[in-house]
Amino acid sequence: MSTRDTDWDGVRLHVVTGKGGTGKTTVAGALALALASGGKRVLLMEVEGRQGIAQLFDVPPLPYSERKVAVAPATGTRPGGDVFALVADPESALVEYLEMFYNLRHAGTALAKLGVMDFATTIAPGLRDVLLTGKAAEAVRRKASGKTGARVYDAVVMDAPPTGRIGRFLNVTSEVSGLARVGPIRGHADTVQRVIRSPDTAVHFVTVLEEMPVQETLDGIAELAGLPGGGIQIGGIMINMTRPLPLPEDQIRAAAEGRLDTGELALGLKAAGLDDSRRLASALSDELAADARTALGQELQRARLDEPGQPCYELPWISYGVDLGGLYRLAAALRDQGAA
Ligand SMILES: Nc1ncnc2c1ncn2[C@@H]1O[C@H](COP(=O)(O)OP(=O)(O)OP(=O)(O)O)[C@@H](O)[C@H]1O
Ligand SMILES: [Mg+2]
Repeated sequence: MSTRDTDWDGVRLHVVTGKGGTGKTTVAGALALALASGGKRVLLMEVEGRQGIAQLFDVPPLPYSERKVAVAPATGTRPGGDVFALVADPESALVEYLEMFYNLRHAGTALAKLGVMDFATTIAPGLRDVLLTGKAAEAVRRKASGKTGARVYDAVVMDAPPTGRIGRFLNVTSEVSGLARVGPIRGHADTVQRVIRSPDTAVHFVTVLEEMPVQETLDGIAELAGLPGGGIQIGGIMINMTRPLPLPEDQIRAAAEGRLDTGELALGLKAAGLDDSRRLASALSDELAADARTALGQELQRARLDEPGQPCYELPWISYGVDLGGLYRLAAALRDQGAA
C-alpha cells in the first residue's frame, strides 16, 4: 500500500479555529495542501467572507462556487492532488438549499426581494450558522453522479470562526431548536449536527506561543469538550510561527537572568573590529536578555499546550512572509509530523 498512516485518517471535515490573527487561514490552507498531496481532492472553505483564501493562494476573489486554486505536491509514485476553494456565504447557501430541497429555481431572487435574506442573516444567527456548516456537511457527503458513487472530495477543510465563537457556531442543533422544532430546517440542522458530532469531523486549534492565544486554545477545547451531548472531536493543536531557540538552553537562562558576561562580549566585538565595543556589548546583552525571556515564556506556554493531551504540531515562522512557497513549506511540515 502506498498510503501512509496519519493522525486523522478517518476525518473528512477539518474545522480550523484559533484566536484571531494567529494564522487560521494560513494553516487551513497549508492543511488543505497537505491533505491533497498524492492525488487527493480537497475543498478549502471560507465562511467569513473576507477573501482570505484568494489572497493566500494569490488568485482573484472567489465567487460562491468551487474553484481549483492549487495543485498539491506529488508523493512517491502518486500524482499531485487538487485544492479547490469556496467562499460560502449564508445567502447563497440558503438559495442553494431551497433549490436543492424544494426545487425552487430562481427562488433566490424573489426571496431576496422579499427580505428573507435579512431574516437569515440578521434575525437568526443560528440559522445563518447552520447554513454555513450545512454547506460543509453537504460537501463532505457529496457523491459523484453515475455508477461509482465515489465521494467528490476526500476531505473538506474549513477556515472557521475564531475560538470565541466556535462553540456556538458548531453547536448547530441547540442554536436552531429555538427557531424550528420540527420541519425541514430542523431536519437539516439534525443532519448537519450528525456530521459535526461524528468521527468524520475534527476541530483543530491554531495558536502561537503567547499567553492569550494559548489560553483561548485551552478554553476553546474545554468548551467543545463540555458541550451538552458531547461528541465533537478535538483535533490537533497547530503551534504556528515557531522559531528555533536563539541560543543553547543554559545560555538562554543565563541571558534571561542578565548573567551573560558582557566583558567577554565586548572583547568579541572589539576583536571583530567594532568601536565603542563596551557600549555595544551592553546594548546587545540587554537585547539578548529580552529575547531570552521571550524564549523562556514560550517554553512555558508550550508546556501548557500539553495539558489537553492532544497532538501538537509545529509550523515554522516564515521570515520572508507567507507566499505560495512558504505555504508549501508549512504543508510539508504538517505532513512530516503526521497531521496529514
Ligand atoms: N508561519 C507563519 N510565518 C510567518 N507569517 C505567518 C505565518 N502564519 C501566518 N502568518 C502571517 O500572519 C498573518 C495572519 O495570518 P492569517 O491571516 O492566516 O491569520 P488568521 O487567524 O486567519 O487571521 P484572522 O483572525 O484575521 O482571520 C498574515 O499576515 C500571515 O501571512
Ligand atoms: Mg483568517
